[in-house]
Amino acid sequence: MAPKSKTKQKKKDKKQKKRKVKSMADKADKYELYQLSVQSPEEDIEFLANVYRDLRGQKALHFREDFCGTALLTAHWIKRGPDYTAEGFDIDTEPVDWGIKHNLRPLGDAADRAVLHIQDARLPSDKPPDVRCAQNFSYWVFKTRAEMSDYFRRAHVDLDDDGIFVIDLHGGPECFEPMEEETEMDEGFTYVWDQDEYWPIPSEAKSYIHFRFTDGSELHRAFSYEWRVWGLAELRDILEDVGFARVDCYWEGTDEDGESGNGIFTPEDKGEHCLSYVAYLVAQK
Ligand SMILES: C[S@@+](CC[C@H](N)C(=O)[O-])C[C@H]1O[C@@H](n2cnc3c(N)ncnc32)[C@H](O)[C@@H]1O
Repeated sequence: MAPKSKTKQKKKDKKQKKRKVKSMADKADKYELYQLSVQSPEEDIEFLANVYRDLRGQKALHFREDFCGTALLTAHWIKRGPDYTAEGFDIDTEPVDWGIKHNLRPLGDAADRAVLHIQDARLPSDKPPDVRCAQNFSYWVFKTRAEMSDYFRRAHVDLDDDGIFVIDLHGGPECFEPMEEETEMDEGFTYVWDQDEYWPIPSEAKSYIHFRFTDGSELHRAFSYEWRVWGLAELRDILEDVGFARVDCYWEGTDEDGESGNGIFTPEDKGEHCLSYVAYLVAQK
């Protein structure tokens, strides 16, 4: 058989490339999947606004979202009305640009009430926030007590006089176990939380998020985390040490079946033993 000319072969390769059917993973948008899997902005904003109102007897208006990523909470905050303003802080332009396009721009002029800073979360706000939060354990990037104290101290100084600082955390013996937890999402993909490794001496962990699809494709390690796994009591101690007047743990109630959480978080002193939990620490200036 005569050898094909180089140009003919190139054209054939191009055609074959064009014909290659894209997998679901190829077509997926990792930030969209992240928001669907991990975030509950309506519930979170409702919780933050209600806690402030209950503690301070007035409405919180200026909000700050540390480690804001796609600024989903910021977008939901300013949607509450024309008096509501927000600032977000993140060091990575990629999620922030995605968030501007998909979460803020669709709000039209209201988006002008949000300022996103491509800056370290330890830097000061333009205006002292009434409510400042760090969600989804992002502040666990600070691995030493000195770093965490410094971050909390700066948050304390930066708040409005009546301000509150709210952080979430997860705990329970399962958070130290190397394991993969799969959640089948209504939107037709599987969210996988992969606790890959845990080192007990520094209490550090390496975890990933993968997304799996019904055609067998996968967005492997769509997100990676290297964290210190902090304990609730030690975080509370640090918040008190840096000057917060009062720190309360908001613990989740249980469903009627008595087994799963009901999404309602209220202040509690002791909590109860469970394999895995998510809780909030609410620190008042
Ligand atoms: C897990 S994402 C958080 C996304 C979203 N805010 C949430 O609650 O799910 C963590 C974000 O923290 C950002 N980040 C990491 N270190 C940071 C720092 N020192 N200051 C500000 N942002 C930081 C990363 O760029 C990333 O977007």
